[in-house]
Amino acid sequence: ILASNLGMEDMEGPEYGKPDFVLLDQLTMEDFMKNLQLRFEKNRIYTYIGEVLVSVNPYQELPLYGPEAIARYQGRELYERPPHLYAVANAAYKAMKRRSRDTCIVISGESGAGKTEASKHIMQYIAAVTNPSRRAEVERVKDILLNSTCVLEAFGNARTNRNHNSSRFGKYMDINFDFKGDPVGGHIHSYLLEKSRVLKQHVGERNFHAFYQLLRGSEEQKLQEMHLERNPALYNFTRQGAGLNMGVHNVMDSDEKSHRAVTEAMAVIGFSSEEVASVHRILAAILHMGNIEFVETEENGLQKGGLAVAEAALVDHVAELTATPRDLVLRSLLARTVASGGRELIEKGHTVAEASYARDACAKAVYQRLFEWVVDRINSIMEARDRDPRRDGKDTVIGVLDIYGFEVLPVNSFEQFCINYCNEKLQQLFVQLILKQEQEEYEREGIAWQSVEYFNNATIVELVERPHRGILAILDEACSTAGPVTDRIFLQTLDTHHRHHPHYSSRQLCPTDKTMEFGRDFRIKHYAGDVTYSVERFIDKNRDFLFQDFKRLLYNSADPILRAMWPDGQQDITEVTKRPLTAGTLFKNSMVALVENLASKEPFYVRCIKPNEDKVPGRLDEDHCRHQVAYLGLLENVRVRRAGFASRQPYPRFLLRYKMTCEYTWPNHLLGSDRAAVSALLEQHGLQGDVAFGHSKLFIRSPRTLVTLEQSRARLIPIIVLLLQKAWRGTLARWRCRRLKAIYTIMRWFRRHKVRAHLAELQQRFQAARHPPLYGRDIVWPPPPAVLQPFQDTCHALFCRWRARQLVKNIPPSDMAQIKAKVAAMGALQGLRQDWGCQRAWARDYLSSGTDNPTGARLFAERLKALREKDGFGAVLFSSHVRKVNRFRKSRDRALLFTDRHLYKLDPGRQYRVMRAVPLEAVTRLSVTSGRDQLVVLHARNQDDLVVCLHRSQPTLDNRIGELVGILAAHCQGEGRNLEVHVSDCIPVSQRGARRLVSVETRPEQPEPDFCCSHGAFTLLWPSP
Ligand SMILES: Nc1ncnc2c1ncn2[C@@H]1O[C@H](COP(=O)(O)OP(=O)(O)OP(=O)(O)O)[C@@H](O)[C@H]1O
Ligand SMILES: [Mg+2]
Repeated sequence: ILASNLGMEDMEGPEYGKPDFVLLDQLTMEDFMKNLQLRFEKNRIYTYIGEVLVSVNPYQELPLYGPEAIARYQGRELYERPPHLYAVANAAYKAMKRRSRDTCIVISGESGAGKTEASKHIMQYIAAVTNPSRRAEVERVKDILLNSTCVLEAFGNARTNRNHNSSRFGKYMDINFDFKGDPVGGHIHSYLLEKSRVLKQHVGERNFHAFYQLLRGSEEQKLQEMHLERNPALYNFTRQGAGLNMGVHNVMDSDEKSHRAVTEAMAVIGFSSEEVASVHRILAAILHMGNIEFVETEENGLQKGGLAVAEAALVDHVAELTATPRDLVLRSLLARTVASGGRELIEKGHTVAEASYARDACAKAVYQRLFEWVVDRINSIMEARDRDPRRDGKDTVIGVLDIYGFEVLPVNSFEQFCINYCNEKLQQLFVQLILKQEQEEYEREGIAWQSVEYFNNATIVELVERPHRGILAILDEACSTAGPVTDRIFLQTLDTHHRHHPHYSSRQLCPTDKTMEFGRDFRIKHYAGDVTYSVERFIDKNRDFLFQDFKRLLYNSADPILRAMWPDGQQDITEVTKRPLTAGTLFKNSMVALVENLASKEPFYVRCIKPNEDKVPGRLDEDHCRHQVAYLGLLENVRVRRAGFASRQPYPRFLLRYKMTCEYTWPNHLLGSDRAAVSALLEQHGLQGDVAFGHSKLFIRSPRTLVTLEQSRARLIPIIVLLLQKAWRGTLARWRCRRLKAIYTIMRWFRRHKVRAHLAELQQRFQAARHPPLYGRDIVWPPPPAVLQPFQDTCHALFCRWRARQLVKNIPPSDMAQIKAKVAAMGALQGLRQDWGCQRAWARDYLSSGTDNPTGARLFAERLKALREKDGFGAVLFSSHVRKVNRFRKSRDRALLFTDRHLYKLDPGRQYRVMRAVPLEAVTRLSVTSGRDQLVVLHARNQDDLVVCLHRSQPTLDNRIGELVGILAAHCQGEGRNLEVHVSDCIPVSQRGARRLVSVETRPEQPEPDFCCSHGAFTLLWPSP
């Protein structure tokens, strides 16, 4: 939003001067020049006068062009960006597209001021912004448009002392656009090629580039085919410029490279290879023709003296290259055919001078026709094809005029006269259009018109082109008069007709002026300055005469391309024709047509200024520029523009720019109309006296008002920027906050959903958990969401307890003791011992069991009874037969009885007599192995450990260690004691001071478990099942 409101003043600080001369406080030449100079020093080569662009040639590559720059100007308004050619091109393009108006861009300025470069930048801009959809036909037209410049420059440009790439013809190019604004065709008009350059050039200048490109760029073989040598110094026409190149400022500074580029460009445009070859042959023929010299032959006997060509081979070459018969070429060079009286034809021999003149005229004409043919060929390819206005809508046109600038040479001839007349015409158009437009605008807006003083060059134009009395008319008169009319007589006629004209003088009329030569020079006071013309060869150049013989010769060429250039050679020699129009009249007519054409379009102007004569970058010669500023009428332009009103703006645009400076209009006004709002704004500033209100625009009289407004705007902009930033930052923060809130809400709901889903899942899975016998043993807990992990852990624990409770609840009380013992055994052995007999029913008192102890059960019962009476124990915890080993390494069969009070060692062999009784509390520790054997070591408090192996069980080798450990541990637990249980495969024992280790060895062949001793260690030999 901000960017589009930025005016060019914002993009360019005051240190760059005023971007528009209209904004100057005082309009004097001094101020104008100062601003121009200041901007030029800062590489600001473009400045506006309203909508006119003033451009100063920088003579160096500036980073002002290219796709990025184009993008900055595309679609913008003129005032939005710093002054630039692109802005003008864009304005012309937009005016055309928006209003369907034909527009034209007129580029003027003196030679070397940068007109051709400007036109190229304009074309590039138009090519870059059009055809976004890449239609093939449009791309083709764009390619031709862009490539045509290169070809035309090769044939129409030459190095001069003013400009190394000077256009030696005027060019006006129309680009046709369809209703979508894409280029669909184009047409090039060329004006007055300076063909005399083919013959002769000033010192330091060159012939047209094409010749040097042909010689330096062609392949060796092609040169040979054309009988050419590479060195341009060998040809009269190119000798003068042989040592010079195309120019240091040109990127394409070598003729070889350019030759390649031009040939390529011709191919892209659509020239066939035959056509290109033909063009090269014609150029070669011209070079050869230039070297032809004539000699007079001696009178020899009967034969009359005559004329001959010095070097006959040249005639052969010319004949070959132009595909014409050799003798006809020779005859056309040496003589002319005249129709005498009726139908009779006479051949009339030339003198040396006549022959040379005819040869030169022919060379010039051939080159000119070649140039025109190239232009026509490009036009025929580029022509907008198959366009039907009823179907396609009306085509609109942008014209670009790049025409030679005002020229003053040391000696000025007919060409300069034409060129300067052309510039007069264009200046006239400029004056008319600018004034006319202003006037129209004032009328449209209902504002009183105030006339401005400006120099109207209409009288000079009149002096040149007026019928009957104008200089061109007098010249034509002189040409058509029979008899020897000399240039001198022509000058005298001029003097008589224009002796009182304020813009005309000659030595005769002004005898004291020594700068003019008597009888040769006349002077015109052009709008751009005084120019002295020499009348020498005026008549000749105007007549532009070429003998019919050459025309016929070339028309009869076997080369169809060359033939097509000479349609007038078809005419029969005896036919009496109207006198052809003179060069001057042709030129005048083309200028009138051009000006008419331009006047029908909406014009945009680019006024080019040349900063110095030496092509030096960064130097602006004040006098030199002042002169150009003066004759281009730039000051008048500013004055007209400011004629009372320095600036005008539609009300909405004015408001958009300045509304912040007034409380009624900021941010939006509530008044009836924009006009009323503008009025309120100006009243607040006290500026209402300096403006006029049009119907749709506000007219501001002095730049000071504009500056005042600009200044108060500039003061407010930072505040507004802050305001906008504040609002925008706030908005951004609010957006972020809202987003965060939304994120949290979503997260909350998502979590809730996850928790719910998880709980539902749990509920579903645990539905059947209530039912016995498993009570949900196999239920897999689903992985909980992270937030539920602790909850699930707790639940899991609760569930386990609940399930245990359900299981325990169903156990009969009689089994409880066994269960407790098993739980205790599990606590002590789970994971440490392979098998601890959990699956079995634990019977405890095995010695009382009939199955386990069939022979001794009765005896044992008696013993038990006796013991109960004696010791009064409550219950038998465990009893079993054992094999024991003592500290004397003796092993014996014994029985062990654990009651809730004592541990008894019994002798089964003697009715279970008690051999030893130990209070149960004295047993503090048990050691068992990790294997399946039934070894147990009972550690007593008094260091008298009992090492036994349970045996003689039914079934044999029954696994009862777990039972013993569980029962003892559970009992101790019940009594509040802790019983240590060790699991180890190498158990240390201590028997009244004797320390040993006990281990187990499994032996399949061992019939009964038994102990053996060796090296102070016990080994239980265990029969493996
Ligand atoms: N915008 C520019 N940036 C850089 N160099 C430039 C620019 N404009 C012109 N020049 C330089 O100035 C030289 C002359 O410019 P150009 O050929 O456009 O002049 P011209 O006005 O067409 O002259 P003429 O009337 O002789 O044809 C160019 O060859 C180039 O070196
Ligand atoms: Mg040019």
